[in-house]
Amino acid sequence: MERFEIVGGQKLYGEVGISGAKNSVLPLIAASILSEGKTHIRNCPKIYDVEVMTEIIKSLGGKAYFDGNTLILDTADLNGSELPEKLTGQIRASLFTVGPLLTRFGKAAMCLPGGCNIGKRPIDIHVAALREIGVGVTYGEYTTFRRYELEGKRVVLRFPSVGATENLMMASVKSRGITYIVNCAKEPEIIDLQNYLNLIGAKISGAGTDVITVEGVEKLYSAEVEFTPSPDRIEAGTFIFLGAACGGELEFSVPSLRNSLFIAKIVGNNACKIIQKDDKIYILKFIRPKKGFGKIVTAPYPGFPTDLQPQLVACASVADGMTVVEDSVFPERFGYVKELKKTGADLSVYANACVAVGRKTIAGACMSAADLRGGAAMVIAALAAEGKSIVGGIGHIDRGYDRIDEKLRKIGAKVARIEI
Ligand code: UD1
Repeated sequence: MERFEIVGGQKLYGEVGISGAKNSVLPLIAASILSEGKTHIRNCPKIYDVEVMTEIIKSLGGKAYFDGNTLILDTADLNGSELPEKLTGQIRASLFTVGPLLTRFGKAAMCLPGGCNIGKRPIDIHVAALREIGVGVTYGEYTTFRRYELEGKRVVLRFPSVGATENLMMASVKSRGITYIVNCAKEPEIIDLQNYLNLIGAKISGAGTDVITVEGVEKLYSAEVEFTPSPDRIEAGTFIFLGAACGGELEFSVPSLRNSLFIAKIVGNNACKIIQKDDKIYILKFIRPKKGFGKIVTAPYPGFPTDLQPQLVACASVADGMTVVEDSVFPERFGYVKELKKTGADLSVYANACVAVGRKTIAGACMSAADLRGGAAMVIAALAAEGKSIVGGIGHIDRGYDRIDEKLRKIGAKVARIEI
């Protein structure tokens, strides 16, 4: 087991390298099941969740390995459609393999997926959507999915679930006729998935809007393809809140910041100046937030992302004034708050909201992460605090951030990874 030892109070300066988006790469790994060939995913983050997804591909008979920062997946000889419990129990994204397995083998079976401890995570939207297009679902110790006649339909999601949208896109690529996915999720990662699927022969349009159209095709290509996912907007957003909490000056490439620019603007009204140096670089000059951030409510894209809610709360802990953060996507996602309060942060949770009253200083503390983004919030608080902090449970942070401690040291943070 490892932990971070952090000495806070430094301003941060330098260039931040942003990895490919975790939430693009995980469904892309699932989608590679459809390609029946080799897929090269460039700038792929080396994170624990990617490791688990690649283990799933291997458990089904495929090959997966890194060449530098490129993940290579070879799914030509895939021969299984039952996912091992020890892997699905670790990661919610294991559920995303159901759609492609149904298309390729006509069936899939898995125990209910695990994942971050951020509240209830049912699969009813996935199941309802799959049933609409002709999939039989039987719950049991292993939930089984079986494709009968996949027929294009107009499917309306009751909520724009990211995973259900992706699963349905992958389950319907070879359906007879046209499938319309209405009230679908609009996240940039859905556009990445559409682009990848079209690269291997699918006919999908509308990603990024409220309706995705999937025109069923008879065959997909089994050629070798290369794909570069979008930069991780949540990782970039984490560094923006970190900069605002600590002060200093951070440099991002233009593509890294493109999908997080609106986060930079929210922070920018209060704590940073955004300068576009040339067509390649943005510089963010941070000062301590002059006031709270007002009321921010998380919502599906293009709303404020739930995956940045804890990092915002950590930053609001040192803003000069009050911030109210409501989570409408995962209403129970405030388990990390009791740990942040150990720094002296003035935080109170009421139902699905957290009220932060900023303090001039917070103090180093011993905290323990129990989920990915909550862990990131603890790192931000520790770096903004005076004195030394310990952050345990960093396996949760490694699930979604590629060597965050190395990236932090590069910009002047005092962070050590200690084996315990
Ligand atoms: C994805 C992201 C995750 C992010 C989340 C919301 C990936 C790999 N993960 O997760 O980082 O926090 O979107 O932006 O892309 N729901 C149901 N029934 C369902 C499915 C979802 O009630 O069948 C609810 C969930 O409990 C949650 C909300 O819908 O309250 C959003 O979930 P969803 O968009 O499906 O999240 P994921 O795809 O699991």
